[in-house]
Amino acid sequence: MVADPEPEVEEEEEPALTTVDAGHAPVKPLTLAIDIGGTGLKASVLDATGAMVADRVRMPTKYPLPPDGSGGLVPTLVKLVKPLPEADRVSAGFPGMVRAGKILSAPHFVTESGPGSKIDHQLEEAWSRFDLAGALQEALGKPTKVANDADVQGAAVVQGQGLELVITLGTGFGTAIFLDRRLLPHLEIAHQPFRKGETYNDQLGERTRKDVGDDRWNTRVNKAITLLDQLLFFDHLYIGGGNARRVRRDGLGDVLERTTVVDNSAGILGGLRLWEGNHLGV
Ligand code: BGC
Repeated sequence: MVADPEPEVEEEEEPALTTVDAGHAPVKPLTLAIDIGGTGLKASVLDATGAMVADRVRMPTKYPLPPDGSGGLVPTLVKLVKPLPEADRVSAGFPGMVRAGKILSAPHFVTESGPGSKIDHQLEEAWSRFDLAGALQEALGKPTKVANDADVQGAAVVQGQGLELVITLGTGFGTAIFLDRRLLPHLEIAHQPFRKGETYNDQLGERTRKDVGDDRWNTRVNKAITLLDQLLFFDHLYIGGGNARRVRRDGLGDVLERTTVVDNSAGILGGLRLWEGNHLGV
């Protein structure tokens, strides 16, 4: 008997976002929030209170994925958000290093056929310094901000108390660090050496979890959390992303009482925060 293939990592989460109450007008301005993931592309429109004005739309991320042109990210996103109501502004979380709306690294999207596959140098060139905020702004006709996906997600969940670390466990390993609610400069911890000559991303990403199984993956997650605590002495840790629910609490030791597992829909809600008081400095 052939076992059912395991569902893709981000498929399993249902958003815990609230919707605008029937009979109530959404509070303006409306934000189109896009969550660009290595496995799926998701979007919804939120009103100023963070309530969803329309159901979330989603499509799988198709590879190869150049930034623009036929089959590229920008036209794909335009298609994805077409069924959604018109918004006043746009936010997008991107799985890589982003500065001032430009892409400095796109680890998943420079590969030939998805995470773990060969790097395509033409894609690398196409993504390098690509002005994603500018391109989306032009394609959607609304002011647009783009930031790292973990930073965006973190902005929706931190409480503003001390040093808060957000990690996201999905296709890749995302991190965001906040001090008293203020986002600190993004660090691509994902691509730093972790163990056995491999990076955090290599060892904690979805591809590896499927390879090594949940037990060994959990041991690694615990080790990563211990190392990050030794580095940052975080006051609180938030674990998000499609695989957050697979983290075994009993392995977290004394970090457990400083840990909250958060819903993946924070990737959408964080899009609103991007516009609040220039929260993420973008
Ligand atoms: C990227 C990070 C991103 C994370 C989660 C990693 O591969 O390097 O920038 O935040 O994946 O998507």
